[in-house]
Amino acid sequence: MSKVIYSSGHTTLNGHVSVSGSKNASLPIIAACLLFNKPVHLKNIARLDDITTLLRLLSSMNVKLTFKKDSLLLDPTDARNVDLSQKDVGTIRASILLLGPILARFGSIKLPLPGGCSIGKRPVNFHLEALRALGATVSIEQNMIIGSAPKGLKGGSFSFPKPSVTATENALLAATLAKGQTTLHQASIEPEVLELVRFLQEAGVKITQHQSTITIEPSADLLVNNKPFTVLSDRMEVGTWIAAAGITRGKISIGFDALSDLDVVLSHARAMGMKIKKEENTFFVDASGPLMARSFTTGFGKLFPTDLQAPFAALNLTCDGPWSITETVWEDRFDHLKQAQLFGASALKFSQNTASYPLAIKPTLHGAVVTGNDLRGTCALAILSLAASGPSTILQSQHIGRGYQYFIEKINTMGATLRQEPLIEHNEKRIAQQEQQVS
Ligand code: EPU
Repeated sequence: MSKVIYSSGHTTLNGHVSVSGSKNASLPIIAACLLFNKPVHLKNIARLDDITTLLRLLSSMNVKLTFKKDSLLLDPTDARNVDLSQKDVGTIRASILLLGPILARFGSIKLPLPGGCSIGKRPVNFHLEALRALGATVSIEQNMIIGSAPKGLKGGSFSFPKPSVTATENALLAATLAKGQTTLHQASIEPEVLELVRFLQEAGVKITQHQSTITIEPSADLLVNNKPFTVLSDRMEVGTWIAAAGITRGKISIGFDALSDLDVVLSHARAMGMKIKKEENTFFVDASGPLMARSFTTGFGKLFPTDLQAPFAALNLTCDGPWSITETVWEDRFDHLKQAQLFGASALKFSQNTASYPLAIKPTLHGAVVTGNDLRGTCALAILSLAASGPSTILQSQHIGRGYQYFIEKINTMGATLRQEPLIEHNEKRIAQQEQQVS
């Protein structure tokens, strides 16, 4: 459902926020439940639209679900290989994570091509090639991935042309039930992949990782796991709140359960001028002093995470320039900056995979009607609206619910007054009026 956020602008965030479980770590672990023959108990699972969609797909496969607070019990004992809803598969990228487990468990698959945020080309060739290396026959026919491995998957060796998060996860999931050892070279070793490794290891799979090489000793049978597994806190949510504190020059504390390495983001934010202290499971962020914009390049490992590019690009817009950002993961992930031009950042320039702000003086941000296009970009526009001098409207704000649990409630407890409503006829009129006022 299309939603709209109304923002009054001109806000400084102050207070405390608690971070939810990691979206991109939870999704492959939820898909992994298909490898089990007993219930799987997960904790710290966020209520996000992408997770709900994946759960609906599993439920249609006869996986029994009990989701109470952040505790998710999945019982895949009587799971069936069914034709999955094209609509649900097409809504999320993470539906591709069913490919490996379904092939491994049932020996055949018919999966519509996945959807997800529109941030650039999102091919699936690495996923298919990795499964072929494990003995599967897979092809794409009329927008469907058709695959079979009637005699089961065989361990093999595969070198990814470049690291891919979900393709590595798919290969790991498939290899877990294959016959014989599998070695993955140039695999992604992003924290979310390593969280899946930790989950499979706790379920008894022997997996070793040396730099970007991962070796999987298969499990002879479907896995059994009786211990609950608690997913890490979402590092992208932590980073988003750090950027939000910066954008509003606020002072906030960010609580979390357990977190993977966030050093690249912390040192970037500190180099911009933020004071960040960590005490046990809390970051204390003081962004009330002067901040400097900072250029960066996105990528894996020690490079800046692409999923935090949008909020930190928005933060740069509140600081004097010049600066530039180069995207090396998704070639078309600057829609939020194109929309931010409507807030007054009209000097922004775009060339291939780089966005730059060439001026020494920061833009004067005023209220605007902007439209979200993807999860991170829409969230960035919502927090940037807090730095505008007047009210703003963020259309297509439903994207935020795909990846940030209770976003509006959380930001409002820190002093914002964002209001999110379904987009219905009566507020279309209000938006048209506001468009006139701000133009
Ligand atoms: N690629 C290929 N072929 C493939 C797969 C990927 O060429 O078969 C390329 C992509 O085009 C891209 C690069 O490899 O240039 C890396 O893409 P990757 O496969 O790692 O991305 P993903 O697995 O589809 C996950 C996250 C994204 C995050 C990226 C990069 C999930 C569900 N999604 O996507 O998260 O941006 O890794 O870190 O884990 C988000 O949360 O907002 C989000 C988009």
